[in-house]
Amino acid sequence: MTAFDLQRIKAETFVQSVDFHEELGSTNDRALELSRRGDLVTPLLVLANRQNAGRGRGGHRWWSTDEALTFSFIIDSQQAPLPPARRPQLSLTAGLAVCEVLAGLLPGAAVGLKWPNDVHLESRKVCGILVEVPPHREDTFVIGIGVNVNNLLTDAPEELRATATSLFEIGRRTFGLTDVLIRLLRQFAEELPRLVQNPSRLADRWQPYCVLTGRLVRLDGGRRPVTGICQGIDADGALLLETEAGVERFFGGTVSLPAEGEGG
Ligand code: BTN
Repeated sequence: MTAFDLQRIKAETFVQSVDFHEELGSTNDRALELSRRGDLVTPLLVLANRQNAGRGRGGHRWWSTDEALTFSFIIDSQQAPLPPARRPQLSLTAGLAVCEVLAGLLPGAAVGLKWPNDVHLESRKVCGILVEVPPHREDTFVIGIGVNVNNLLTDAPEELRATATSLFEIGRRTFGLTDVLIRLLRQFAEELPRLVQNPSRLADRWQPYCVLTGRLVRLDGGRRPVTGICQGIDADGALLLETEAGVERFFGGTVSLPAEGEGG
């Protein structure tokens, strides 16, 4: 029996069709596969009770259990007429939506965005976001979101136990998975037209959530590692680092905090 109320999800959010699975490898993989179909009804939600081969950025695995949320949704030009180059902004818009929902569910808790696609709760990762553009469907985006909700990180692989958390671990209560999912989808649907119309106003809202601002950051993944003081995230979704060369903009890479020995 599924923990999700699929009727409610369809009735209370912008989602038009739901592809639900008790168990699935990766909801992003399934969404990418579905996006090849000609008869796609969007926004389409791919939801799994259990995901056993979840993917993160840079080929990383995404660990999760039944009590976590793992879902992807497909949007296209009907909802967001955006070129593929706006993927960084879309990822941050999803991150902003997650931050807003978590801040509402856990008043007083420290909620933050770790560029480019992580959401932190009390300085630990609680959510990861993976936005992908299907090959040959350049007007389409797959937005994959994993949130640790009622799961305990004591069950997680050792390397995650020190760096990740869940809503349950911070709030000390359980949360309805359908409720949290509905809140996330509604918040995203509210933010999306703002991204299409006026990204700089949206950037004013993701800026205060940036947990890297003012900190010494190392960025890997480009031609050479770069170190600089983070000046926030600009309206295009670029990370701003003040380096010896001045303020530089970066659209990709993995950040770490050398002063604290933290990876990301
Ligand atoms: C990251 O932290 O690098 C991103 C993690 C994204 C995980 C979510 S879980 C739902 C969706 N399906 C996947 O395979 N990945 C995303």
